[in-house]
Amino acid sequence: MAKKKYHSIFSPSTSKERRKNFESYWAFSQDHSGEIYELDKDLSKKRQKLNYFQENPVRSKKPLPDPEVFYRNYVELKDDPTQFDRKTLLLTCIYKFARHEWVGISGAWDAIPSMADSKKVTDKISRVHLAEEFSHVRLFHEMFRTFQLDKVQWVPLGPVMKRVYGTFPYVPEMIMSAPAFVTELMGITFYQHVDAILDDVFADEPAARDRIRELLNEIMVDEIAHIGQRRNFLGTVGIKAAKKMVKPLYKMFFNDIPESKHLFDINQMIKDGLAFDYSTVPAALMKRTWVPSYCQSNRNN
Ligand SMILES: [Fe+2]
Ligand SMILES: [Fe+2]
Repeated sequence: MAKKKYHSIFSPSTSKERRKNFESYWAFSQDHSGEIYELDKDLSKKRQKLNYFQENPVRSKKPLPDPEVFYRNYVELKDDPTQFDRKTLLLTCIYKFARHEWVGISGAWDAIPSMADSKKVTDKISRVHLAEEFSHVRLFHEMFRTFQLDKVQWVPLGPVMKRVYGTFPYVPEMIMSAPAFVTELMGITFYQHVDAILDDVFADEPAARDRIRELLNEIMVDEIAHIGQRRNFLGTVGIKAAKKMVKPLYKMFFNDIPESKHLFDINQMIKDGLAFDYSTVPAALMKRTWVPSYCQSNRNN
């Protein structure tokens, strides 16, 4: 049997290893995303990619069976989701997931140091990380346009939730590191489960489906790097805490997205999150991403 190339994302690490890994991630990150555009919350290479997608648009052959069902339910579910067609159900689910991300990063962007004010390498990493997340929202937006949904808006959460998200960046790193890592892990689990049903849900729209997958893959390459990077903030205690948080955090998050249980097996998502060791990631994506040294089988210590 071929030797496994990677180890569990929950593998142990020393503080010396983690220091080195931050340096290695930072080198990767600059090459991967290019120059940061602070004012636009964007990065040069991410912008190039988005330009490519926008200049070479792919649109579904047919609009959704009833686009009004999408528009009435995408921000907040109003109708019975069991009556939706699967395309609409998946697209409203993706929007709700992406919206949470967008609200979280919008609060964090104003709270953390800009690139010019970043002294530590971890500050710089976090700034680029957030800019990458903003680029994902633009890629999600292009997904909706692929299905002829041109009127999608990014709607802020209500005042209470906004305040909750708004306090996150002020919580000390030591406490926030574990849930921040689990959130990234949840992201990649969700995207993998979305990817797995694209062929079925969009069976009669092969070109649009391929474009959705291309857009999703662009996001996933970053997200696979993010889980390693956020993992690198965790020592022995943090990694134990993170493991315990997987189930409750996944449950809480997907409870808030009612469509999710009609599309996905949430318990399987939890299992996949806990078992994550890069083995389920396609080789084409692995080539472009970053993995901490202690999750690689050739670790040299
Ligand atoms: Fe993300
Ligand atoms: Fe991320």
